[in-house]
Amino acid sequence: MSRQDRPHEDFFPIRGYDHVEFYVGNARQAAHFYDKSFGFKPVAKMGQETGCRTRASYVMQQGNVRLVLTCALTPDDEVARHCALHGDGVKVIGIEVADCDQAMRELKTRGATILQPATAAEDEFGTLKTGVIKYAGDTVFKFVERGSYRGPFAPGYKPLNVSGAGGVGLAAVDHIVTNVYLGEMDYWARWYEQMMGFGQLKHFTDDDISTEYSALMSKVMENGAGKLKFPINEPAEGRRKSQIDEYLEWYNGPGVQHVAMNTKDICATVRELRKREIDFLRVPDTYYEDLRDRIGKIDEDYDELQELGILVDRDEDGYLLQIFTQPVQDRPTLFYEVIERHGCRGFGQGNFKALFVSLEREQARRGNL
Ligand code: FE2
Repeated sequence: MSRQDRPHEDFFPIRGYDHVEFYVGNARQAAHFYDKSFGFKPVAKMGQETGCRTRASYVMQQGNVRLVLTCALTPDDEVARHCALHGDGVKVIGIEVADCDQAMRELKTRGATILQPATAAEDEFGTLKTGVIKYAGDTVFKFVERGSYRGPFAPGYKPLNVSGAGGVGLAAVDHIVTNVYLGEMDYWARWYEQMMGFGQLKHFTDDDISTEYSALMSKVMENGAGKLKFPINEPAEGRRKSQIDEYLEWYNGPGVQHVAMNTKDICATVRELRKREIDFLRVPDTYYEDLRDRIGKIDEDYDELQELGILVDRDEDGYLLQIFTQPVQDRPTLFYEVIERHGCRGFGQGNFKALFVSLEREQARRGNL
């Protein structure tokens, strides 16, 4: 079911995704992984050498995607508690706004839980303003105004001058998906409408997304200009434990399930990621048997897509190519999606069934089905 009309304007101007911050057990090693395997260049760092005694953070950049990897240096820091409970995972979804004061004022008026009101920080690169609100579980949204800031990320960070392993073509964040408990999806969909002024782009029921064993429901929320897309998943009653239940069990609560990133050449990106030993979810080869008939003419070579394990879906606006990584930590929680869009604004609904069969095979292997 698609939304019929384009949404209203945002009630505070949103420029786009700013960054995604992870709380991890060992930021130095995570930075190495994101550099060597995913092609993110380390551009800034905060830690003991910059005067921070409690945390270390690395800012990693590729295209317009900016990841921040933060770990605790002391046992009683909030980051350490977060990691003990959730494992490595997303703590902060950063949104760039034109005016942080205005955004925070609007959010407060609408009833958002303010964790940090609009606050200015300064260094030799200028002034950065941020404000933070509570989101699902322990996850937060941070609103960042960087119009008067020229530094690599934020005050407190020093620029890094390292070359890194080189990018793989990841260009921008496409969407960020949250898993919530059964019965909470509608609450959070309304939350996006009321607090953030977002509209509903799509609604998938368990009829759309189910296999013999497991099912889930999903609503996709997006901001007025369509720059930000946040699907929300909740488990549906199935015969066995769904992939969402597995996530909630191991993450110990709601949180970010996957971050999808755009590329302009998914074959080149995936080929390079495979060379760098990123593991992807593999659908059965039977998936490709009737794909040509189902999808029709596309720019890419079907044999190459099959070789790389890339999936294709089409809707009335065009087609998309997508692939999903295996979880990137030992807990079966966060993973990534690489996506290339050719007009299509969907999320690969036609691939859900094939994907879930593969996912369940992995779940069974972990003893979680
Ligand atoms: Fe996705």
